[in-house]
Amino acid sequence: MTFRYSRRPILICLAAALSVAAWVGCEKTVDQFDPNLLYALSLEKTRDIPADVAAEHVQSVITELFGTPLEPRWPSDWLDDEQSSILRDVDNLELAIGKISSDQADQHRGLYREHCVICHGVSGSGNGPASLYQNPYPRDFRRGVFKWKSTERRSKPTREDLLDLLKRGIPGTSMPSYRILSSEQRQTLVDYTIYLSVRGETERELMAVAVDELGYEDTPPEDDLNLAMVFESEGGRGTEAADVIADVLDDVVGQWRDASDEVVDVPQVPQDLLQVGAADAKKFQWSDEAVAMGRDVYEGVYANCVGCHGKGGRADVPTLDYDDWTKEYTSRIGISPDDTQALAPVRALGALPPRPVLPRRLSDGVYRGAGTPEAIYRIISQGIAGSPMPAVMISEQGDGTSLSPRQIWALVAYVQSLGQGAAPADTAAASDPGGDKMGPLAWSAGAPHESNAVPSSTADSSVDIPPAG
Ligand code: HEC
Ligand code: HEC
Repeated sequence: MTFRYSRRPILICLAAALSVAAWVGCEKTVDQFDPNLLYALSLEKTRDIPADVAAEHVQSVITELFGTPLEPRWPSDWLDDEQSSILRDVDNLELAIGKISSDQADQHRGLYREHCVICHGVSGSGNGPASLYQNPYPRDFRRGVFKWKSTERRSKPTREDLLDLLKRGIPGTSMPSYRILSSEQRQTLVDYTIYLSVRGETERELMAVAVDELGYEDTPPEDDLNLAMVFESEGGRGTEAADVIADVLDDVVGQWRDASDEVVDVPQVPQDLLQVGAADAKKFQWSDEAVAMGRDVYEGVYANCVGCHGKGGRADVPTLDYDDWTKEYTSRIGISPDDTQALAPVRALGALPPRPVLPRRLSDGVYRGAGTPEAIYRIISQGIAGSPMPAVMISEQGDGTSLSPRQIWALVAYVQSLGQGAAPADTAAASDPGGDKMGPLAWSAGAPHESNAVPSSTADSSVDIPPAG
C-alpha cells in the first residue's frame, strides 16, 4: 500500500512549503486524527531543523499502527501478551468511538464521543470544542502525563486510578463525574483513554527519534532509516526504522504495563499524631500537636509550602508559572506566554491561550486528586506531574534538606485542618507531647484504593513509625 504523498489533503499542503506551520489551513476531516503539529513545531524550534517530513512519515506510521477514529487499531503484532493486556479488551476501542447509539441489550456505543470529545478532542489533544473557556484546560493525553494518581510522579496512573478518577470527576475543574455510567462503560472509557495516550505519546516519541537519530531533515533518509518504508513491503521488518518503532512502542506501552509496580508506598501513620479516643473510629482525627507540627514544616525553609500556597493556605502570594503542556509551546521555544503576537502561529496550530497554573487555595479544602490522607501524602511526597508543584526529598530523619515520613504526615494533618476551616492547633494543653498514645487508626478503611491498600512500611520510610495496632 502506498500512503505517502497520496491520501490525505494535508499532505498536498505539505508540498507547498517546507515549514510545519504551512500545514495550517489544510482541510481536516473528523475521520482522521489530527497530527500533533504543535509538537512538530516545538521540535523544529528546539532542534533548529525542519520537522515536517518527519511529522508526515510519523503520521503514516501512526495510522498504520493505531488506525483512525472510525477504525481504531491496536498494534498487537508489535507487542507481547503482557504489553497488549494493558487494554482490557481491544473491542472496547470501537465501542468507545463508533457512532453514538445503543441496542436492545442496552449496549452503548460511541461512549468517548458522547461524553469526552467535547473537552478532550477526537485525538485526546485536550482541545475539544468546549475547551477554550475552561480553566484548567482539559488534559492533552498525548503527552502521557497524568496528575491525579497513586503512582510515582514520572509514572503512568494505574487502571484503578483512572477508574476512580472517572467515578469521582475532578472537583474544582470542569471534568465531571461519570458515576452514572456502568462500571463496564467506565472500563471501556479507560481503555480508550489509554489507547489515545499510547497513540499520542508514540507519535511524539517517533517524531523526536526521527529528527534526532534517523537523519530526517528536509528530505527523507535512506530506506533503512525511512519510517514510511516500514509498512510498504509485507513484513518490512528488519530495517533500523522498524527497530525504532518497536523500541518506542516497547517504551511507551511498557510504562503503562509497569504502573501498578510504581504505586507510592504510604507508610503507617504515627499513632501519636492522631487524637486519642475519638468517638467515631471511622473518622480520621489529627491531634492538635500533629497540626502544629505540620504548620511548622509548611512554613519552614525546606518545604516552603507557604512560598506558593500562602499563609494558612490562602494562596495569596503572587506567583506566575505554567504547566508543562503550556511551556512546550511557549517558554521552551522562546515565546513569552503573554506575547499575543508571537503566539499567533502556535495558536493557529491548535494551542490554547496560555493560562497560568495557580497554587491551590488549600483553605478551600477542595482536592482534585482523591483527597484522602493517603492521596495527600502521595501528592506531597511526589509533587504533581506536569505542574510546578515540586516533590520533596524523603529521609528517615528529615534533616533540613529532606522531610521524614512523620513530617509529611504532619503536613497532611495541617493541610486537612486548613480545609476544614479549623484553626491550627493553639491549645497547647490538648495533647501530650512525645506521648505514646494510641488513637483510632481507621482512615484507611475509607480509602477508595482497595487494590492499593496502604502497604506496610517501606524500606526507605519506615524507621520512626510505630507499627499499627
Ligand atoms: C467539561 C469538560 C470535560 C469533559 C466532558 C471530560 N473531561 Fe476529562 N478533564 C477535564 C479537565 C478540565 C481536566 C484537567 C483537570 C486538571 O488539570 O486537574 C481533565 C482531565 C482528565 C484526565 C487526566 C487526569 C489526570 O490524572 O491528569 C483524564 C484521564 C480525563 N480527563 C478523562 C476523561 C474522560 C474519559 C472523559 C469522558 C468520559 C472526560 N475526561 C470528560 C475536562 C473534561
Ligand atoms: C512551586 C510552588 C509550589 C510549592 C513549593 C508547593 N506547591 Fe502545592 N501546589 C502547587 C500548584 C501549582 C498546585 C496545583 C497544581 C495543579 O492543579 O495542577 C498545587 C497543589 C497542591 C495540593 C492540591 C492537591 C489536590 O489533590 O488537589 C496540595 C494538597 C498541595 N499543593 C500541598 C502542598 C504542600 C503541603 C507543599 C509543601 C510541601 C506544597 N504544596 C508546595 C504549587 C506548589
